[in-house]
Amino acid sequence: MAVVEDIVTAPDKRLKTACAPIEEIDDHIRELAAHMLDDMYATEGCGLAAPQVGELIQLVVIDVDYTKSKRNPYVLINPRIVVADGEERETGEGCLSFPGITVRVSRPSHVVVEARNLDGDLMRYEASDNLMAVCLQHEIDHLHGVTMVDHLKPLQRVRKMHEYEEAVAAGARPGDVEVEE
Ligand code: NI
Repeated sequence: MAVVEDIVTAPDKRLKTACAPIEEIDDHIRELAAHMLDDMYATEGCGLAAPQVGELIQLVVIDVDYTKSKRNPYVLINPRIVVADGEERETGEGCLSFPGITVRVSRPSHVVVEARNLDGDLMRYEASDNLMAVCLQHEIDHLHGVTMVDHLKPLQRVRKMHEYEEAVAAGARPGDVEVEE
């Protein structure tokens, strides 16, 4: 299906590339944001970054609390983490670009992010100890060529990438996540 073909999966150089800031919010950006939200909802993800659909620009979409009838999408243009503090928290993260695996990543529990919205307004997002705090950091990492496995120690990373290769060989597709034991 189209969504799955859209998603750039590891290993792909585009996932390791620093993305360019967006200079102008034009129709291309608006259409891309809508398209990324469609992909995100279709795969039941909570966030998607532009490089994951092959566009090397600083655009992220997030929705951490949607239901079938109610959506709460955020579009973040040129997002910047201005505060990352609080106690480190380890959570299991999944990523559409790494189908079939979950990775335990430790991150600061509190973040403040500044980003433009589609109207060009500078917005401020604050999240503490919740999925939003994790998702903001995970997606903004993507814009800097950093993925969840890059947070692992070298040996752990080798093991996880092996697990990932096995999952892909077994037919894992974007949106598939490992069931955590
Ligand atoms: Ni991701």
